[in-house]
Amino acid sequence: MQLLQVSKGKLKLKNPILTASGTFGYGKEFEDFYDVSYLGGITIKGTTLNKKDGNFPPRIYESSGGILNSIGLANPGIKKIIMENKTYFESLKNSGCSVILNVNGEDTEEFAKVIEIADEAACFSYYEINVSCPNVKKGGISFSSTPETLFELVKFIRKRTKNALIIKLSPNVQSVAPFVKASEDAGADCISLINTLKGISIDLNLKKPRFTNVFAGFSGPSIKPIALYHIYEARRVTNLPIIGMGGISNLNDILEFFSVGADAIAIGTMNFVNPCIAFNLLTELEKYCESSLKTLDSVKLEFQAWMK
Ligand SMILES: Cc1cc2nc3c(=O)[nH]c(=O)nc-3n(C[C@H](O)[C@H](O)[C@H](O)COP(=O)(O)O)c2cc1C
Repeated sequence: MQLLQVSKGKLKLKNPILTASGTFGYGKEFEDFYDVSYLGGITIKGTTLNKKDGNFPPRIYESSGGILNSIGLANPGIKKIIMENKTYFESLKNSGCSVILNVNGEDTEEFAKVIEIADEAACFSYYEINVSCPNVKKGGISFSSTPETLFELVKFIRKRTKNALIIKLSPNVQSVAPFVKASEDAGADCISLINTLKGISIDLNLKKPRFTNVFAGFSGPSIKPIALYHIYEARRVTNLPIIGMGGISNLNDILEFFSVGADAIAIGTMNFVNPCIAFNLLTELEKYCESSLKTLDSVKLEFQAWMK
């Protein structure tokens, strides 16, 4: 396993295989399939200060090449999540599997409060800030609508915690570059991308959009080229560690993510297709490195050279 270590800036992982927020519950749900502690880390469901019931169903619709989701951040609130999972999270952390809290808020204060409670519990390795949330105080536009609003949010959070901050960026922009720079300038430790793409599905029989909110988030194998493009753009403007995600379903996909500059990757939608996929890909990556007698770092360098 030494072969697969990731150590870049504040991102220290025993291996580069993570799971993406909203697709892996709180980790426990997957223990029936494999020992989750083998993974480099898990990212738990999007978390808010108070309980959220989420959106009116349907919440997921399978489309060609992926799924659309409109979950609406259903979760029991940070305090209950800690109460029910702290022991499990600590056992993961003790075995070297990072536990990443995906932080959400309707305003900057909510982000700060979630983090304050999480800091006190001390059972999370990193905070992933989901900047695609709508900012209620600014009429519902996302915190990442401009690099300036993103800078303000990250700066506000940065002052309130010493824990490493991963800023999770949206692909629904012309270029992620200014958002990466704004995050870095405001004190981010790591960038993760991509979140879901905006999409719509229409039910022709019912003659209406399938989702109550009309829009939903599109994810899965079809979005991989878009994810690779945004990671490539991000890598051109920062040396911060990057966690890449978007449509990963096999080992070749992971190697493509390394080629464009990802330091670690996260498996999302494909967990729903094959609940063992993250563990299987970890095993495949390990065998790949062993059989080529290369460390993960040298594999990454070899693949990144293709992009020069
Ligand atoms: C059902 C579902 C729920 C998700 N919930 C969250 C969330 O709460 N917070 C977040 O930052 N991303 C969330 N995401 C986005 C994923 O973490 C990931 O960034 C995206 O799906 C792209 O990866 P994939 O194509 O491998 O799924 C969700 C995705 C899905 C499919």
